[in-house]
Amino acid sequence: MRIYVSRGLPADLMTRLRAAGNVTCPDRAAPPTEADLLNELPGHDAAVVQLTDPMSAAVLEAAAPTLRLAAQIAVGLDNIDELAAARHGVAVTHTPGVLTDATADLTMALMLAACRRVVEADRFVRAGRWDVWSLDLMTGMELRGATLGILGRGRIGRAVAHRAEAFGMRIQHTSRTSGIPLQELIRTSDVLSIHAPLTTGTWHLIDQRALMAMKPGSVLINTARGPLVDELYIAEALETGPLRAVGLDVFEEEPRVHPSLLNRGDVVLLPHIGSATDRTRHRMASMAVEAVEALAAGEPLPHRAPR
Ligand code: DGY
Repeated sequence: MRIYVSRGLPADLMTRLRAAGNVTCPDRAAPPTEADLLNELPGHDAAVVQLTDPMSAAVLEAAAPTLRLAAQIAVGLDNIDELAAARHGVAVTHTPGVLTDATADLTMALMLAACRRVVEADRFVRAGRWDVWSLDLMTGMELRGATLGILGRGRIGRAVAHRAEAFGMRIQHTSRTSGIPLQELIRTSDVLSIHAPLTTGTWHLIDQRALMAMKPGSVLINTARGPLVDELYIAEALETGPLRAVGLDVFEEEPRVHPSLLNRGDVVLLPHIGSATDRTRHRMASMAVEAVEALAAGEPLPHRAPR
């Protein structure tokens, strides 16, 4: 079996893949472009890919004569054209569950950092600007008693709600099947935390209008996918609109961040590290390897993405 790995994995996992078949792993640190994949993927039976890899309809069509599996090292699948994969008989697997706790923990870290101005305060101290303690120095929003709006009540949304309850927050949510209407969630939440998948239906779900309709003095947190929020209008919502602070782990065109956000003290920016603990990242990659091993052994594929 011929196995394509878009970027290197930990040595123990590469060893397992080499035991399952012939591995091609281009030597580069950057993610492959669509042109790279069009060039490199055809002729392989399985591909281990990451959320940065554009598995477009064109790429899947070019690889389709041999490709039987796209094993994604992420739970989100928005970089893979799933309809095209189904059309060409390419099975898709992903990594649900294992990253729930790590991502929920990071969401709380971002929420605390944004609400309590942690990063801004750190910069303030390092810049030598702290000359006196005062009652109003770096005051922020207290979590106890604040209302947390969870947009998307899947595994991660529920895990965040569970943690936030321990902080004394009141929880409300909107999801596809339950909760309060989105407009009400936006209007009444002190902290709005996004946990929905990116689909054509959720792209710019939080657009300029939604940002401006948020509760006065509220905080926006996004650890899901950047394009759920129209990044262009976040600075305006902070400057002249209702937002007090924003915490972002994801962006519309990663790794690019809209320049209007870069120099603001009321924005906390992280490089898409929601699942980035040693254990979780290794487990995610291992799940992709398990799918390839199953394919090689002719066994049912674990971790199949829901259709
Ligand atoms: C995912 O898995 O989709 C995250 O964004 C990266 O861990």
